[in-house]
Amino acid sequence: MKATIALLPGDGIGPEVCRAGAEVLAAVGEHYGHSFELREAAIGGAAIDASGSPLPPATEALCRDADAVLLGAVGGPKWSDPQATVRPEQGLLRLRHAMGVFANLRPIVPDRRLSAASPLRSELLEGVDICFVRELTGGIYFGAKRRDSNGASDVCSYSVMEIERVVRLACELALTRKRRLVSVDKANVLETSRLWREITSRIVTEEYPAVHLEHMLVDAAAMYLIQQPARFDVVVTENMFGDILTDEASVITGSLGMLPSASLSAGGPGLYEPIHGSAPDIAGKGIANPYGTILSVALLLRHSLGLEREARAVEVAVSGAIDAGLLTPDLATSNARAVATAQVTAGVVGLVRGEFADRAIA
Ligand code: IPM
Ligand code: MN
Repeated sequence: MKATIALLPGDGIGPEVCRAGAEVLAAVGEHYGHSFELREAAIGGAAIDASGSPLPPATEALCRDADAVLLGAVGGPKWSDPQATVRPEQGLLRLRHAMGVFANLRPIVPDRRLSAASPLRSELLEGVDICFVRELTGGIYFGAKRRDSNGASDVCSYSVMEIERVVRLACELALTRKRRLVSVDKANVLETSRLWREITSRIVTEEYPAVHLEHMLVDAAAMYLIQQPARFDVVVTENMFGDILTDEASVITGSLGMLPSASLSAGGPGLYEPIHGSAPDIAGKGIANPYGTILSVALLLRHSLGLEREARAVEVAVSGAIDAGLLTPDLATSNARAVATAQVTAGVVGLVRGEFADRAIA
């Protein structure tokens, strides 16, 4: 197949992990006979420095016309002055909005081989396989913002349609898994949450009776994620709760650096990014963990290009690379054992191209 993929490296370790993703995409294309055209564009702080805007019009146009978008990370101390009116994060938020990617899938699956890096006891990690569906283009992130000398406010609002579409997507996902859906809200306090709860109940009852639905308050959900992470299957929640809970959930896997994400729209291109940030403290050192981005490439192949076999091949290659001990310092048990981003990437690329990966997925 032919596909155009927009590459947005961004800031900090973004360019390093994006390069890793691009190499894996190229290897998949070559090995399976696809022609992937990768086109790079600026976003975030790098784009502010180059053109004054965190999302230049050319970047937005490229992303809209592409079949999928792979993004590294945005932000960093250079642009984090609280007084600044132009920020790198605006680039990402505007892009999500412009692409209409309303559902952000964040799978949390701890790898047994990395359990030493998890802050939780390994028995708590048994059977943990969660997929978060975070609403991504509404809520307090996008409501009116006001500031005057007496105070400030951020408006949180949700329309019926915005809730319905993300809940439906979460139900569809639940049907392919254990059919258990937890909807997280703060319905004891917030009106938007009361609406969220009402609509979720209606959609599940009327359209997805096979899905078992549980409503959970966000504070309780934060607690259960640590105490009993195995009780969750699919979790659907609004934008900011999802932002916070997925960072919390990610650390139980041992490394934030491992986790991919897919942001899906209704029929348009998807946006794929690791969930870690720009990690300015290790940027440019060549030691960033590229697995989150490489696994985002697998999601891109699966959800935007419909290439399930190729997606599996990338996932199997990642697993093989971990087996081979290719671990960056965030994962390695000692610094002496740690390897660089480039070595991890070369290992994954080798496995994608090699005999072994083919046999493993046959
Ligand atoms: C994320 C990030 C973003 C968010 C920031 C960079 C705006 O934390 O993707 O989770 O809050 O959505
Ligand atoms: Mn976040």
